[in-house]
Amino acid sequence: MHVPVIAPSILSADFSRLGEQVRMLDEGGADWIHVDVMDGHFVPNLTIGPQVVAALRPHTRKPLDCHLMIEQPERYVEQFAAAGADILTIHVEACRHLHRNLEQIRGLEHHSGGRMMAGVSLNPHTPIESIAHVLELCDLVLVMSVNPGFSGQSFIPQTRGKLRALRERLDALGRHGVHVQVDGGITDANAELVAHDGADSFVAGSGVFRHPSLAPAAAIAALRAAAARGIETRLRAPA
Ligand code: DX5
Ligand code: ZN
Repeated sequence: MHVPVIAPSILSADFSRLGEQVRMLDEGGADWIHVDVMDGHFVPNLTIGPQVVAALRPHTRKPLDCHLMIEQPERYVEQFAAAGADILTIHVEACRHLHRNLEQIRGLEHHSGGRMMAGVSLNPHTPIESIAHVLELCDLVLVMSVNPGFSGQSFIPQTRGKLRALRERLDALGRHGVHVQVDGGITDANAELVAHDGADSFVAGSGVFRHPSLAPAAAIAALRAAAARGIETRLRAPA
């Protein structure tokens, strides 16, 4: 993918007025709205479920990119689809039958017709080999650049090598349409680097909502500009 996709995470939003915050992100230029779903088991935090996704759906037409940090996600994917999710990303570490679970997601009907987009996510310690045999079922691969559970953590630089290896592998397979998403500690200060490594989709919570000098819309624009520079230099001179 040659155009950066900016996906602000509502985990850093004001939860007392989420609908308004989603509209603000939509008008502020977000491409996708990243929704962090946590179950208190897979990660040590609890956030939101399908009911909140359904409540947010009327506030934007942009894709709702649901990052499911939950054990046995197969129990809930149908509910998220019915609630209006556009992308369902599950964790390799949370699935006993990853292949089956990705097939299940791809078989779900999307709220505006067609099929649901399926993503798979890797924790910082998980090698890309763990998804080698399911890549053909993925529309998106999410490389976590923090340990999932909270916003506001620092980017883990060792995850950069994984972005490079993943992009290389997808290129070698001719899978140029698969999104490589990076999530955790992403700001306009490091988006260029990770874009150069291979990311084309950028999740940012604090980088949008708690930027030291920019309001959310300006932070989204700064992220986009930085990411576009990184993608451009990667395409000119691959890493
Ligand atoms: C972490 C979540 C992230 C989080 C990112 O578990 O998956 O999406 O909201 O927040 P920042 O950008 O602040 O690291
Ligand atoms: Zn996330």
